[in-house]
Amino acid sequence: MAILVTGGAGYIGSHTCVELLNVGEEIVIVDNYSNSKPKALERIREITKKDFKFYEVDILDKESLEKVFSENNITEVIHFAGSKAVGESVAKPLMYYHNNITGTLVLCEVMAKYNVKKLIFSSSATVYGMPKTVPITEDFPLSTTNPYGTTKLMIERILEDLIVADPNWSIAILRYFNPVGAHKSGLIGEDPSGIPNNLMPYISQVGSGKLKCLQVFGNDYDTPDGTGVRDYIHVVDLSLGHLKAIEIVRKQIGIEYFNLGTGKGYSVLDMVKAYEKATGKEIPYVIAPRRPGDIGQCYADPTKAKEKLGWEATHTLEEMCEDTARWQSMNPNGYED
Ligand code: NAD
Ligand code: UD1
Repeated sequence: MAILVTGGAGYIGSHTCVELLNVGEEIVIVDNYSNSKPKALERIREITKKDFKFYEVDILDKESLEKVFSENNITEVIHFAGSKAVGESVAKPLMYYHNNITGTLVLCEVMAKYNVKKLIFSSSATVYGMPKTVPITEDFPLSTTNPYGTTKLMIERILEDLIVADPNWSIAILRYFNPVGAHKSGLIGEDPSGIPNNLMPYISQVGSGKLKCLQVFGNDYDTPDGTGVRDYIHVVDLSLGHLKAIEIVRKQIGIEYFNLGTGKGYSVLDMVKAYEKATGKEIPYVIAPRRPGDIGQCYADPTKAKEKLGWEATHTLEEMCEDTARWQSMNPNGYED
């Protein structure tokens, strides 16, 4: 009996695999390395001292994916595989719709064929579009502002239709807020290609001297200091949320949505100050214009995850900063080193 992890070599996938192995789960990983490196898998083995099967397979390749199911006794699937860069999705919408939506369709077809009907899907707070108020509960209206977000929302709808047609499925849709940080070992972490788009990797590369100065995108939002407020969640907390989600898909059928966030909002300047305090490094910044498509505030109401999954985030902002900095200093060029 094994859990199939698609996209298990990626940032959130690799951390989740570590936690799954730590509690004695058997896993099988599938990844096409389109946004990750084999070294991440070596590092998972190094941290956990455990082994697992890996298939270098594109989930769009149905025949190869079927082979994975025929060779293993897969009982649940955690589905991370997909493309995730918002800007790239605007430039390459067809690629995003194809990889994320067709990839999920192929996966679900193969799962149905092999009678595996327990699925955990990586969605995103991006499905809340421009929320009118915060904190955000799971029943807020859904909308999107870019093709990446639309793929997530469309997949949520597809999974809802699937369960209407076949109520034997058990699906947990996890809407992540802003994952940051890295494993305490400093051996796995986020490895963005090129100049990072997201705040934390950018700050850490300024901290290490790789980049000169952070641009703060807007200081005229309706927030306490005018800069954008987000719900940053330590990637290990997020990973542990998947362990709880596995428990729920094992014991009930139906579809459930969960916000995985801390419930606390921090501004860009809060993050800069927290990083400086945790690491003793100075983060020079300039105020720049707003980034198109950005929202002022976004943070979760994580009550449902606490009550139904028995999960809540425990890592502090200081740990998020320290762990990011450790990963950055031990791996200045990510997994290239
Ligand atoms: P990531 O890019 O690090 O990991 C995704 C993995 O999937 C990569 O290893 C990539 O090589 C693999 N992959 C992509 N397409 C594939 C395909 N067709 N076949 C096989 N493997 C494929 O991303 P991540 O940050 O770990 O995110 C994991 C999931 O969580 C994604 O679905 C992402 O959209 C979602 N998510 C991420 C964030 C975030 O901020 N990181 C926020 C919300 C949701
Ligand atoms: C971005 C994506 C979102 C995705 C999320 C998690 C956009 C518009 N949104 O969200 O769809 O789900 O990542 O991966 O890209 N900031 C700066 N300077 C920087 C980088 C960011 O000031 O160099 C600010 C942003 O304006 C924002 C905050 O930092 O206020 C967080 O930004 P980021 O890390 O990119 O995450 P989101 O905007 O929440």
